[in-house]
Amino acid sequence: MMTDERKGTPKHESTPLIIRLFPFMRKHLGKYLGLFVMSIITAIIGILPAFFLQVAIDAVTVSHDMSVITVIIWLMILYGVMGGLLGFFSTYLREYLGNKIVMDMRVKLYSHVNELSFSFFDMTRTGDVMARVMQDVAQIQMYATIGILTLATNLATLAGVVAILFSWNPIIGSIFLIDIPFILIGMRSFSRRVAPANARIRKANGIISASIQDCLNGIREVKLYGREEFMLGVFDKWNDEYFNSVIDSNKQHAFWMPYVPFVVSASSAIVMLVGGLLVVSAVYTPGLLIATIAYFTQLAAPLRHVTKFLGLHTIAKAAAARIFEILDQKPAIADSPGAVPLENVEGHVQYEHVTFHYHEGHDILKDITLDIPPGKIVAFVGPSGVGKTTMLHLLPRFYDVAKGHVRIDGRDVRECTLESLRKRVAIVMQDTFLFDGTFADNIAFGKPNATKEEIVHAASVARLNQFIESLPQKYKTMIGERGVFLSGGQAQRLALARVIITDPKVLILDEPTANVDAVTDKEIMDAVRETMKGRTTLVIAHRLWTIQHADMIVLLKDGRIDAKGSHQELLDTSEFYREFFASQLRSEKDRANAMDSQEISNS
Ligand SMILES: Nc1ncnc2c1ncn2[C@@H]1O[C@H](COP(=O)(O)OP(=O)(O)O)[C@@H](O)[C@H]1O
Ligand SMILES: [Mg+2]
Repeated sequence: MMTDERKGTPKHESTPLIIRLFPFMRKHLGKYLGLFVMSIITAIIGILPAFFLQVAIDAVTVSHDMSVITVIIWLMILYGVMGGLLGFFSTYLREYLGNKIVMDMRVKLYSHVNELSFSFFDMTRTGDVMARVMQDVAQIQMYATIGILTLATNLATLAGVVAILFSWNPIIGSIFLIDIPFILIGMRSFSRRVAPANARIRKANGIISASIQDCLNGIREVKLYGREEFMLGVFDKWNDEYFNSVIDSNKQHAFWMPYVPFVVSASSAIVMLVGGLLVVSAVYTPGLLIATIAYFTQLAAPLRHVTKFLGLHTIAKAAAARIFEILDQKPAIADSPGAVPLENVEGHVQYEHVTFHYHEGHDILKDITLDIPPGKIVAFVGPSGVGKTTMLHLLPRFYDVAKGHVRIDGRDVRECTLESLRKRVAIVMQDTFLFDGTFADNIAFGKPNATKEEIVHAASVARLNQFIESLPQKYKTMIGERGVFLSGGQAQRLALARVIITDPKVLILDEPTANVDAVTDKEIMDAVRETMKGRTTLVIAHRLWTIQHADMIVLLKDGRIDAKGSHQELLDTSEFYREFFASQLRSEKDRANAMDSQEISNS
């Protein structure tokens, strides 16, 4: 479940749906008004035939007058034309509005998701977010157009019919009113039963999307460990749940559908009886009786539609709850009031009594204090899971400290605008995400307006230019499914190029060579060394090479700085460091041996 410390009370549960949707509808009020007017005219047109029927029948049976029939015929023709035109315009407008609202909502959701902080993504499954952006939003469309407008048409029809019946005869008019409590009770029980089923449908739908996503992303692991059946099992389970809840929901609909005609036909029988008596006693004409019966039969449809609207409403409400659950989330990390842009950065980095936890009560970093002068290279070493990555993620404010300060050039990062901060601090991670696009697009990702020269320069510094130039389409070559695939080393050099082009003052390297084979190592190291020039570099060291190039080494242990100093100082003073160093040395020797034997077998 998604939570956020700043989420507050969930608004969507208490606020009526229509009010929550209003901001999306407001922009189109004029069109809505047009549609509304058309709905009312549609209702009036729908009421007319039975009225014509009454006039025609009474004209021929009571006053034996054919001229009225001619008029009625012309009116019927006009009626057909009007109905056609209205049908065209209202369908067009309805589709326009519905799709527009869906589009606006998707864009809003998408941009909101983009603004949310890492803590949101830590707790949310991608597939579930996708289901919300795609399917749940689509559920709103029906409600915001067909739903609301058929409601208008049908309520107007109901009101019109009841008014006509009353004007003809108050007794007959009031027979209809007997139906109302029965319908209301039915509606209430219907919506009570169908709402939970709809919430289950939406939830199952989200989980199904998420598990498809998981399976596709992890397909290698799934196959490697032979877990196809297990994955299918999970998928099956939620598909079952989806199926069952859809059936549950439809059961309610199926029960409701005949309920309304039943109530209406029961009252029709009474009308027939009372109407018959009225005709016999000559209070009512035969035309009136026939028209009354026609109206009563006609009442079933709008009543059923009104309740169908209820169905749409509960579906839309369940979907909206999931949509607004995201929209109501405030980014945990945002510009503080009065934040100022970070300018002319020298790259002085300080951690001051920094404490941090992902979850209350589980401190990952405990009272860390560290001063890194501009332009220095600091290597972080320590056991896996000790908090090295976490510590460096505090610098660009992926997360905020619980206590203490992280400063750049003396200013707390929380006082800087996020945009300026993240422009000055760059990260190269273990794995680099490559976007569907060309080399040029991917290198210039952080600086879309970069010139060709800048792109080529960045690629050259990153030792990638030669490779790109060797491709037929050079910088316009697509990366990924529609183009070339990059090796781990090439991807990491692309990541370096991406950093170089934005020219950050502070560079974070989070084991950039961890997933790279030894053969490409040297090229990466050259690229890394070039990239570090003139920047303060915080590097999570994986290789001895990096450690030996560092001005200072920081040894983390149990969430604290265990020791810091030069390589030699640490060798002299820290038993823990000596052990670490020895183990690194061993693994590098192994790798070197592996490389030698590879070369031998190649030659
Ligand atoms: N997003 C996260 N949410 C919760 N816990 C996390 C998150 N990222 C890392 N951790 C935990 O914080 C600790 C430190 O992780 P990390 O900083 O990645 O260590 P290192 O980089 O030193 O291997 C680990 O126990 C890890 O499980
Ligand atoms: Mg790490």
